Amino acid sequence: MAQQKALAPLSNLISLAGKTALITGAAAGMGAATARRFAEAGAALLLVDIDEGRLAKLGRQLEDAGGKVSLYPADLADRMAIARLWQEIGGAAPDILVNNAGIFPFCKYLETDAALVEKVMAVNLYAAYWLCQHFVRCRLERGGGGAIVNISSVEAMLSFKEDMAHYTMSKAGVIALTRALSRDYGRHGIRANVVLPGAIHTEGTHRARRQVWRDPSLLRVGYHFQARLSLGRWGNPDEVARIVLVLASDLSSYMNGAVVPVDGGFLSA
Ligand SMILES: NC(=O)c1ccc[n+]([C@@H]2O[C@H](COP(=O)([O-])OP(=O)(O)OC[C@H]3O[C@@H](n4cnc5c(N)ncnc54)[C@H](O)[C@@H]3O)[C@@H](O)[C@H]2O)c1
Repeated sequence: MAQQKALAPLSNLISLAGKTALITGAAAGMGAATARRFAEAGAALLLVDIDEGRLAKLGRQLEDAGGKVSLYPADLADRMAIARLWQEIGGAAPDILVNNAGIFPFCKYLETDAALVEKVMAVNLYAAYWLCQHFVRCRLERGGGGAIVNISSVEAMLSFKEDMAHYTMSKAGVIALTRALSRDYGRHGIRANVVLPGAIHTEGTHRARRQVWRDPSLLRVGYHFQARLSLGRWGNPDEVARIVLVLASDLSSYMNGAVVPVDGGFLSA
């Protein structure tokens, strides 16, 4: 009988010590929560966001707590900005990439115009596409290995909220991209997994909820949405960040191409 290998201690499996992680949309919501957990796990952080002020504030907080942080204010809707960002990062090649930045404007399908659809696709999907390309190239140059965690949405699996066709399409693309990369680069030790959050209290969802005052029909949607949450409550950003940490760390060394809902039971109800 094959001799059983000693199990790696849990603390080693979850540790990101010695690793560098790039997180987009890091200034708020789940991105900021992920940055906090990754810093706690020992990663050096490359944080990207369009909101320079908030990003700087988070950077100071993390540094005060002993974190190693580099900040990159950038508009990820602009592909050239992504190329410049990667140049700036230079030698600090990340081991982990978290594509979290996203926007979710409500707009009736018949009223969407090219500018809106292109913006949503650029931030939610194309930015992830190009960042993954830079990341994979950089990891292959270093002999492979690495983890991609992309953030999609429950909406990509179950189109629930009306007036979100543009968003749903972009987030379905994020799932497709992740699974394709998991297939293409798994043999090089690059794992790619995708998280589907749903009903998470963040600055973004609070902004969306405030639109009820302008469009009371959102109350009905909100009621039915809430009814699907079998845990009976919304989640907080850290409850997503902890799963992102699992997927980025060696705790999930045999997960690749997985689609992981973190949604209080929404998709199963
Ligand atoms: N909160 C939820 O319930 C929920 C549910 C499903 C999916 N998601 C997805 O999770 C991700 C994070 O959502 P959140 O609720 O934390 O959002 P949020 O609005 O609270 O934070 C998003 C962050 O992304 C940044 N960002 C936006 N556009 C950018 C751009 N062009 N370039 C760089 N940075 C940009 C914002 O400045 C902000 O800091 C998004 O991709 C979102 O679609 C959220």
